[in-house]
Amino acid sequence: MTSSSTRVSAVHGGDAATTGSAASGVVLKIESLSKHFGGVKAVDDVSFEIQAGHIHSLIGPNGSGKSTMINVLTGLYDATSGKITLLGKDITRNKPHDRVSAGLGRTFQNIRLFKEMPVLDNVMIGRHARTRSGFFRVLASPAARKEDLATRERALDELEFVGMGGAGDLLAGGLSYGRQRLVEIARALATDPTLLLLDEPAAGLNPAETEQLDVVLRNIVKRGITVMLVEHDMNLVMAISDHLTVLNFGKKIAEGRPEEVQADPHVISAYLGTDEAEVEDAQG
Ligand SMILES: Nc1ncnc2c1ncn2[C@@H]1O[C@H](COP(=O)(O)OP(=O)(O)OP(=O)(O)O)[C@@H](O)[C@H]1O
Ligand SMILES: [Mg+2]
Repeated sequence: MTSSSTRVSAVHGGDAATTGSAASGVVLKIESLSKHFGGVKAVDDVSFEIQAGHIHSLIGPNGSGKSTMINVLTGLYDATSGKITLLGKDITRNKPHDRVSAGLGRTFQNIRLFKEMPVLDNVMIGRHARTRSGFFRVLASPAARKEDLATRERALDELEFVGMGGAGDLLAGGLSYGRQRLVEIARALATDPTLLLLDEPAAGLNPAETEQLDVVLRNIVKRGITVMLVEHDMNLVMAISDHLTVLNFGKKIAEGRPEEVQADPHVISAYLGTDEAEVEDAQG
């Protein structure tokens, strides 16, 4: 039978550099990006590209800089140095809300929902980030009220999309951890992202919830949204990712398709804590 000999560019070699932007299918381009906290190089001179339509996972051991990367990409933290290009536009110094307008959506590692508010209101807040009147002016005028109705419809659609239809009136804080994570995803989707950054969406989920998340992620991509997934659940990551970038101590140590990354001695070493010298020995 035919065995596919497809080789996708990895850290070592691969395609001739494609330095284009949106036109060449690159949604996000990160160049020599660094974020230092005093002496801690949380993200250290990292470069990679995310292709349109991919689930691109960013993995690495605890403290390797994954959440910091998301926080720098979304503008929660200023980059110490380097460049971030979204759909061909330099957003390195843009404010967080401008990056949302530019198409960056996100969820947080530590769930950030208004726990005393209904689920639907939590999702509507995401949509308000995108509407003309915004969150605090929704009751100001008939036009704003009409917009509010549309916002409500959209929020209901997003809840349905993540399998949470019918949960809109429940208090967010009363939901299981897994269902709260789905609400966060619905809220992020309501911001109309081109690129969705998810920080450990499977953390704390039971197997059934993880299965549901898998389906939701695939459906998100079918909608034409590109996903950057930060995740420790390697079964999920390896099953669902088109491409992976691996961080260790803030540096990129590997990149490629799941099967390439899984077999990379530097990655195995980073996860198992093996001495780098042993890796060099093993490689001959
Ligand atoms: N606001 C901050 N101030 C100082 N140091 C920070 C800050 N945020 C992160 N760090 C440090 O940066 C490094 C990377 O942390 P980060 O949270 O990005 O790792 P991570 O890969 O997301 O880890 P985990 O898998 O545990 O979530 C760690 O050494 C962390 O202590
Ligand atoms: Mg993290």
